[in-house]
Amino acid sequence: MNLRLQNIDMTAPSSSERLNMVARFSADLGSMTDLTTMANRIIQELCRAGATTHGALFLLDHEQTCYRRASMVGSIAPGVTPSTLAASHPLPRHLLATNQIMTQGASVVDLQAHHLAAGARGFMEALQAARILPHLNKDRLIAFSILGAAQPLAEESALAESLLAALTQTATNALDTMMLYEDLHRSHTLIKRTDRLKSLETIAGGFAHEIRNPLTSIKTFIQLAPERKDDPQFIQEFSKVVLDDVYRIERLIQEILDYARYMEPQLTDEDFNDIVASCLYFIDVKADSQGIKIEKELAPDLPRVMLDRQQIKQVLLNLFLNAMAAMSKSGGKLRVQTRKLMKPEGKVWAHIEIEDTGEGIQDANLDHIFDPFFTTKHKSGENEGTGLGLTIVHQIIQEHHGEILVKSSVGVGTTFFVSLPALPA
Ligand SMILES: Nc1ncnc2c1ncn2[C@@H]1O[C@H](COP(=O)(O)OP(=O)(O)OP(=O)(O)O)[C@@H](O)[C@H]1O
Ligand SMILES: [Mg+2]
Repeated sequence: MNLRLQNIDMTAPSSSERLNMVARFSADLGSMTDLTTMANRIIQELCRAGATTHGALFLLDHEQTCYRRASMVGSIAPGVTPSTLAASHPLPRHLLATNQIMTQGASVVDLQAHHLAAGARGFMEALQAARILPHLNKDRLIAFSILGAAQPLAEESALAESLLAALTQTATNALDTMMLYEDLHRSHTLIKRTDRLKSLETIAGGFAHEIRNPLTSIKTFIQLAPERKDDPQFIQEFSKVVLDDVYRIERLIQEILDYARYMEPQLTDEDFNDIVASCLYFIDVKADSQGIKIEKELAPDLPRVMLDRQQIKQVLLNLFLNAMAAMSKSGGKLRVQTRKLMKPEGKVWAHIEIEDTGEGIQDANLDHIFDPFFTTKHKSGENEGTGLGLTIVHQIIQEHHGEILVKSSVGVGTTFFVSLPALPA
C-alpha cells in the first residue's frame, strides 16, 4: 500500500491544537473497523507530525516471526525499504529493549555500546530515516513506524518529541485492540471452517453409503436388460424400481447441495410469529387430510429477532413435517406455541415449542437424530427420508446462535424446543 501525503502544514501548532490533534486522532482510530485503514491513517498522522512526506508502518505478523509493511506514504529510500523484516533483526530487538523513539544523529558513544543499537542504527541510515517510533504494548513490539527526513526548513515545525510520543502511544493502543480483534476473528473463522469440514466428511461418507444400494440396482438392471429385453413384466417392474432409485439419488444430491451451499445467514429484523404462521398455513391442507389438528398459540409480546427468513422457514417446515410424519398412522395433534423467554443472564429470547402426539423417539435414537443420514424412514415412497432434515435444522440454528432441544416419549409424542436470541429492545 503506497499512499501520497498532500498539503503538509508547515506552521507549528499551538498547545491546544496539539491536544485536539491527539484527541481527534484517537477518536478517528476508535471508529475504524479494519487494520489496513487504521495503518494508513496512523502513518499519515505520524508523517504530518514529523513534517515529512515519507513514512512506513510495519506490523507484527500474526505468527509473530516478522514485521510486515502494512502502509507506506511516499517512499523512504526507494529500493532499500523492505516489505518484511524478521523479528530477530537488530532494529525490532533494539526498539523492544529501549522503547525509545530513535532519531537521526543520536550519541554515537551510546550506540556503539550495544551491537543491537549499532545494527538498528545502520539500518536506519540505510533507509535515510529521520525517526523510528516503537509501538510497544505490554512488553511486545506490535509495530514500528519509520519516518523519512523532515521537509527542508520544516524541521522546527516538526512536533515536539513528547507530542510525537503521545501520538505514537495512541496509535499503539488502537493497533493492539484491532490486532487482538482480528486474531479473535481469525480463530473463530478457523473453528467454524474446521467444524464444517468435519461434518462434510461425515456427509461424504454417508452419501457414498446411501447411493451404493440404488446404484447396485441400476447396475443390475442394465446388466440384465439385454437378455431380458423381451420380458415385458421384467422391464416394466424393474424400470419402476430403477426410476425410484434415480429419484432417490437426485433427492440426496439436492439435499447435499442444500447443505454444502449453505452460507452465512442473511440476517434481517423479523417478526418470528409471522414466519411461524406462514409455515403453518403451508402445511394446513396436508394436516387436515391426515386427521391432524393444529393448535397454535402465538405470543403477542414476542420480541423481534435477527434471522434469515428462508433458513428459519426451512427449520420450521422440517420440524412440522417430521411431526406430521410421526402422526401419519392415526392422526393426532400438533401444538405450536411461541413465547418470550428470559434467560438467567437477563437476555431475552424468542422461543417456540413444537409438540406432536406421534409415535415418539426411542431413547437409543435420541442421541442420533441430528446425525447426517440418521433416519427411521426407510420405506420407499413419499415417506422415505434422507436423514438430513434435522442435520440442516441444527446447522441453521447454530449459525443463528440459537438453541434446539428435544424431549420425547415413545407412544406419547415428541416436543422440539427452539430458542433464538432476540434483538435488544
Ligand atoms: N417429531 C418426531 N417424532 C418422531 N420421530 C422423529 C421426529 N422428528 C424426527 N424424528 C426421528 O428423527 C429421524 C431423523 O429426522 P430427520 O428430519 O433428520 O430425517 P428424516 O425425517 O428421516 O428424513 P429427511 O431428511 O427427509 O427429513 C427421523 O427419521 C425420525 O426417526
Ligand atoms: Mg425430516
